[in-house]
Amino acid sequence: MSQTHRHTITNTKNLVLSGEGCLIGESVHKPLLDVLNGNRQSVPPVWMMRQAGRYLPEYMAIRKTVGSMLDMCFAPKLAAEVTLQPIRRFGFDGAILFSDILVVPHALGRLVRFETGEGPRLDPLDDPAAMMKLPSAADDSVLAPIYETIRLVKAELPPGVAFLGFCGGPWTVATYMVAGRGTTDQAPARLFAYRHPEAFAHLIDILAAASSDYLIRQIRAGVDAVQIFDTWAGILAPDEFERWCIAPTRRIVADVRRAVPGAKIIGFPRGAGSKLKHYVEGLDIDAVGLDWMVDLDFARDEIQRRRPVQGNLDPLALRAGGAALDRGVDAVLASLGGGPLVFNLGHGILPDTPIAHVEQMLKRVRG
Ligand code: CP3
Repeated sequence: MSQTHRHTITNTKNLVLSGEGCLIGESVHKPLLDVLNGNRQSVPPVWMMRQAGRYLPEYMAIRKTVGSMLDMCFAPKLAAEVTLQPIRRFGFDGAILFSDILVVPHALGRLVRFETGEGPRLDPLDDPAAMMKLPSAADDSVLAPIYETIRLVKAELPPGVAFLGFCGGPWTVATYMVAGRGTTDQAPARLFAYRHPEAFAHLIDILAAASSDYLIRQIRAGVDAVQIFDTWAGILAPDEFERWCIAPTRRIVADVRRAVPGAKIIGFPRGAGSKLKHYVEGLDIDAVGLDWMVDLDFARDEIQRRRPVQGNLDPLALRAGGAALDRGVDAVLASLGGGPLVFNLGHGILPDTPIAHVEQMLKRVRG
């Protein structure tokens, strides 16, 4: 089905439709939400992690006018504008709120800053006593501008486009809080968790509670679904994976579902590999995000059999373009296109990716 055709259908409000890809009820038809409901689409809906970002000249033009990345997250008009930019340019089926997972530690009173070209910097939290003194809840007035961004985007978004909110997985956010920065193996947080399990559990509890509040408020402000980015889940040993990734995520999912029955939730435990099976078995999520390292036969047979999937083109295949990109797209569609699939990358788009490669990817996916 062509994009134009799809949008013709989606513009028909309050129509009761049936059959593949159609939603029964009053809501506007959004292919991405259909997949989250378990319904395969003949053309998979597509969006990209980090689609609002530095590979876009229109993003850079706005980024230049703002002091820091965090300032932009808390400037609703600008954040709404950059959220909408990739939708206007590419007609993606999903828009992701422009923000960052580190707004939560910021709202917990931690100092967060983004150094250009170096990634985030926080005041390291590597003292168990200091950890026990963290405030028990985030300051919601700090996060209020983000809910305003959601309302602004909602008013502008084409009807067939799903709007995604997000938070970081407590484990991933904790890794940045403990080390004060990203590291290649998250050794500081893993070591801290082994040495001071009670203090670390306290941090994870606070992050899980703050994250569910944050997601509930995002949904109430107007997002259609939320994604939990657990970027550093894969680095955990199996028991630690259960304790620091699955258990707190389970708590977030339960809290969100209690407050918003029917909420749509995507989990993304990057690098989880064979632990993905435990992740989908242990969590009441609607879909699971797959990174590019996952074996496609395993993904189809063990994961997609249980849950709709999202992913998983290698961002470097997108960066490379040409035949490697076509092969990568074809492999994802051949393995996962027979079931409920949201086409995406296996991690965020790289800043130096040519726009022509994104267009090539979309053409290939949408035929
Ligand atoms: O388009 C989107 O996907 C929405 C926006 C978004 C950002 N960060 C904007 C951003 C999302 C969903 C995130 C999530 C995020 N942030 C994660 C989880 C997903 C992932 O990519 O692993 C993590 C680990 C972070 C923390 C973070 N923020 C890092 C490690 C960095 C530095 C790396 C980099 O890409 O520069 C950031 C900065 C950041 N977050 C930028 C953007 C657009 C770049 C900063 C800039 O524009 O100046």
